[in-house]
Parts: sequence; structure tokens; C-alpha cells
Amino acid sequence: MSADVFVVGNFKGGVGKTKTVTMLSYISAVNKHRRTLVVDLDPQANATSILAKTGNITDINKNITDGFTNGDLTNQITPIIPNLDLIASNTQFSRLPKMLLQSFPDDDKRQVTYLRQLLEPLREQYDAIYLDVPPTISDFSDNAMMASDYCIIILQTQELSFDGAKTYINYMQYLIDNYGAKLDIVGILPCMLRAGGRVDKKVLSDARQEFGNNVLNTIVTYQERLKAYDAEGISMGKIYTGQNDQWDQRAHKVFENVLDEIDLHKLALQEEEG
Ligand SMILES: Nc1ncnc2c1ncn2[C@@H]1O[C@H](COP(=O)(O)OP(=O)(O)O)[C@@H](O)[C@H]1O
Ligand SMILES: [Mg+2]
Repeated sequence: MSADVFVVGNFKGGVGKTKTVTMLSYISAVNKHRRTLVVDLDPQANATSILAKTGNITDINKNITDGFTNGDLTNQITPIIPNLDLIASNTQFSRLPKMLLQSFPDDDKRQVTYLRQLLEPLREQYDAIYLDVPPTISDFSDNAMMASDYCIIILQTQELSFDGAKTYINYMQYLIDNYGAKLDIVGILPCMLRAGGRVDKKVLSDARQEFGNNVLNTIVTYQERLKAYDAEGISMGKIYTGQNDQWDQRAHKVFENVLDEIDLHKLALQEEEG
């Protein structure tokens, strides 16, 4: 077995990347029983903080910065809950561009493929690896895209266009052409993050015209409960009858549907490629 590596992309902030990474990884581990790893590549460390709360972990003493410095990520793993592990980020990781320049001067290709190299031994230990990235075109996103088999692109349904998704796809093509990236689009995920907002139907139908059935049928709408997981961690509460809390249930269900669709797309891609 070798893990599938997924990056959740869009070069903007606040579009739902971290939410998607944390929820999909949780569903992958808890509902699907897959050995799952999240690699937090964002120095803001939002995914790290959400997952730490999810596992009731108060201090994390392993991190990606040390892993990159020592050339080994295998001893920087923090277990969160059964089947779900994390490689945590910290603010020091903002030095990544400097680190890469110092380690591989004048070698662009090595600079952008360092994460790919470091993930190689981890692929054997997991079924799925999710990468969370900061919202910029940068060494962070380049390394994540070069290390990934699949990307999930966030489509902002409240913008008046789907330029965000297009920019991402164009940049992905640039990495394929110039550095031999090998990733496929496994889903374009419509997200709508504003409370009381409406899904822009026009953007959605335009996107379906342009990207065909890469656009997922599931739409992630605004849910207070999903927002609350930032502060409280992800959980599935029980009510007095022993049944699942309906708001947790609803929050989890949407990402279960996303994961099911992604699984199907992945199979279709594998068949295409033989
Ligand atoms: N479906 C949702 N419903 C409610 N709030 C959401 C939803 N998705 C994301 N958010 C909130 O929106 C903010 C930005 O989301 P986040 O995933 O951190 O974006 P990004 O990683 O792209 O910067 C966060 O406060 C997050 O809790
Ligand atoms: Mg984020």
C-alpha cells in the first residue's frame, strides 16, 4: 500500500481549505478507518490548532520545521485520535523559502520537490495524506503540488466568477509542464462560507460548463457547527437518547459526501490511466 496524497488548493485565504482538510481527514480516519495523516504546511498552523483540540492535545513538541531542517519527517508525527496523525506546523516554518535556498542553491527542481522526497517513506505508513497550504503561490504551494497525486480545488460560489479555480488549474499546468508534477484534479468543491449567503447558481453552472463533472455535486454551505470546530475541535456529540447530535451529524455528513464523490472520481481517473 502506498498513500494517496491530496492537496486542497486555491490561492486565496478564507475560502475553506483548512476546513476541508481537517474535516476530510477526520472522516477518512473515523468513518472510513483509513490510516490518515495531515501535513500542515501553513505557518499560521490553523489545521494544527483544530486537530490538537480534536485530540485534546495541549502541547505539541514535534513539527514540520524540524523535519525539514533535519531532512526527516518520520519522527515528527503527532498522533491525534485512532487512525489520524498530524505533522504540526509552527510560525518558524515561514522560513521555508530561505531554508530551501540555503539547502539547494541554484537547484529549482530540488527546491520544489523537497516535500515530495520527505513524504516518500511516510507513504508506506498511511492510506491517505492531506496537505494544508497557505494561500499564496509560493514555495509552500509548489512543494505541496509537486508532492501530491490529487488536488481538490475550492470553488468560491459567492465570487462573481470562477477565476480562483482557473488560476489554480493554470498554475498546476505550469508545474506539470516545467517540473514534471504528476497531479490530477479529483474534484472541484463548491464552498459558500458566508452566513446567510446564497450559492451563486450562475457561477456554479458556468463552472460545470467549463470543468464538467470535475465539479462535485456536494456543496459545502455555511454551518455554525463547522465554524465552531475551529475553537472546540471536531467531534460527534451524543444526546441523552444516545443518538448523534443532529448538528454534528449534519456537519460531518456533508464531508462524508465529499469524500465519497472524491473516491469515485479517483477510481475513474485510475481506470482512465489503466
Ligand atoms: N462551511 C463552513 N461553515 C461555516 N464556517 C466555515 C465553513 N468553512 C469554513 N468556515 C470558516 O471560515 C473561515 C475560513 O475557513 P478556512 O478553512 O480557515 O479557510 P482557508 O484555509 O482557505 O484560509 C474559518 O473561520 C472557518 O471556520
Ligand atoms: Mg487555511
